[in-house]
Amino acid sequence: MKKLLIIANWKMNPDSPSRALLLAKKIDQGVRNTQTEVVIAPPFPFLFEIGRALKKAKLGAQDMHWANLGAYTGEVSWHQLRHLRIAYVIIGHSERRWKMGETDTEINKKVRVALKTNLTPILAIGERRKMNDRAMRTVLKKQLTLGLKGISQKRFKNGVIAYEPVWAIGTGNSASPAHAASALHAITEILKNLWHTKAITTRILYGGSVNAKNARDYITENGGAMHGLLVGGASLNPKEFLGIIKNSLRK
Ligand code: PGA
Repeated sequence: MKKLLIIANWKMNPDSPSRALLLAKKIDQGVRNTQTEVVIAPPFPFLFEIGRALKKAKLGAQDMHWANLGAYTGEVSWHQLRHLRIAYVIIGHSERRWKMGETDTEINKKVRVALKTNLTPILAIGERRKMNDRAMRTVLKKQLTLGLKGISQKRFKNGVIAYEPVWAIGTGNSASPAHAASALHAITEILKNLWHTKAITTRILYGGSVNAKNARDYITENGGAMHGLLVGGASLNPKEFLGIIKNSLRK
């Protein structure tokens, strides 16, 4: 069984480098003895310092540009990230899709570049509104087909899919574990079709209002199929985030 993967997505928080470093250190110390793979994805300005401070947790970026270098004001390239000990990069987060207008085509370019440059992509997908399973499957199929266009299963080998229903993000209304399990099933079937294979080894995570109380339910629902969690708000509180890591351990 693969290691659980739990990611802290700090989004545009916290407000100062000292607070960010303190938070990272508290999390890092708290996960010293865990078997779970823990990733902290802070805002770009804090990556360098946090990368130097982390001993156990890994470093992630929240986005990146696909070009090596060039005239892209305000963007950060994979090339620059590679100098900062980044292991993972979140691509296609719903806030980038819906607030910044990022398209599936751009997302696909980013996933390809991440794979080419040995950054592990975490491709985020999810339906925007609550809908029935059939409609959800259509949305997920489109996002996966376009986001993974031209990418074989072999090439995506270490890649990660994060299922995050947009309506559950930052709302406190997490999706029920049964809903997450049915999305997981849909994603697995879509990937099997896409890659013409019977077995999917890709790690699939759940995200959307995860907290220390509900974390375990996503990991254990349906015999323990989710490979981990993508955590936003609760990852800014070390006690809560460490609680998520502790409680989600498979027993
Ligand atoms: P949330 O965010 O845990 O605050 O709902 C999750 C995410 O956006 O990755």
